[in-house]
Amino acid sequence: MATAPKDQLEEKATSIDGHPERTKEVFRYYQLAKKQEWQVRDMSWGDIPPIPETTGSKERQARRQGIWRSVITQQLQADSLAVEMAAQLLELARHHEAKLYYSTMAQDEARHVEAWLRLAEAAGGTSERDPYLDKLAQMFLGLDVLEEKVFLMQVFFERMIIPRFRLIARSSRGTLLEDLCNRLTVDDGIHHGAGMAYERVLLRDADKKTKDKMIRGAEKMLPIFAQHVLWRPKEREFIGSAMRSRDVARVRREIEEGVRIASSLGLDVGDIEYTLP
Ligand SMILES: [Fe+2]
Ligand SMILES: [Fe+2]
Repeated sequence: MATAPKDQLEEKATSIDGHPERTKEVFRYYQLAKKQEWQVRDMSWGDIPPIPETTGSKERQARRQGIWRSVITQQLQADSLAVEMAAQLLELARHHEAKLYYSTMAQDEARHVEAWLRLAEAAGGTSERDPYLDKLAQMFLGLDVLEEKVFLMQVFFERMIIPRFRLIARSSRGTLLEDLCNRLTVDDGIHHGAGMAYERVLLRDADKKTKDKMIRGAEKMLPIFAQHVLWRPKEREFIGSAMRSRDVARVRREIEEGVRIASSLGLDVGDIEYTLP
C-alpha cells in the first residue's frame, strides 16, 4: 500500500481561534483521509465483470442489466451532488484544519464520480434520474449556514447512505460494483466521522437560532430522503409491495439512527417531526 508523504502527516494543526486543541480531531480526519486515499486505476478494470452476469433469456438478461444500470445511475447522481457540496464546504469552512480536511473530501467525491462514470460506461450506460435526489440536491446546495450544511450532509446523509452501499455490495459479489461500494463504505465512514468532529467544534459557539434552524432543516430533509430511498425507476417498478414495506421499515430504522446521532451532538432532536411517504 502506498504511504502518504511525511510532510502531509506531520504538518502541525493550527487554528484561527487560537485553540488548536479544539480542531485536533478534525485534523486527525485529514490525516486519516490522506492515508486511505485510493485511485480509480487501483480497481480491477477489465479483469472482473462490472456488474453481476446473468444467464437465461435475452429479455431476462436485459432486465437485470437495466436494474444494475439504474443502481449505478442513482449513485453517480448522488456523488455528483457530493462534489458540489464538498466544494461549498471547503469554501465555507472557518478553520484551517477543516479546510485541509475538505480539500481531501472534494477529491474523494470527484474520484467517486470518476469511478461511477467508468462503471456506468462498462455497464451499458446510465438511465433515468431520481427526481427526489435532485430535490435533495437543490435543498442542500441552497443552505447558507455552515453548521446546517455539515449537519444535513455529513451527519445525516453520509451516515444514512452507508447501509445502501453494504446492501449493493452484498448482492454484487465478485464485481467492480462490489469493489467500489466497499471503497465508498470506508470513504463515507470517514466523511461522516469528520463531519461529526467538525460539527462538535461549530456547535461550541452556535446560538439557539442556529440550532433551531438545523432541526427545522432536518425535518424538511428527512421525508425527501425517504422518498429518494424508496423511489423506483421503471426498471425496478415490478418490485412488489412486500419489498416496499421492508424498505420503509429499513428507512425508518436508518432515520432513527440519524436522530440518535444528532442527539449525541447535544441537539434537542426530540423536536424533530417528520412523516414517511
Ligand atoms: Fe461519495
Ligand atoms: Fe461522501
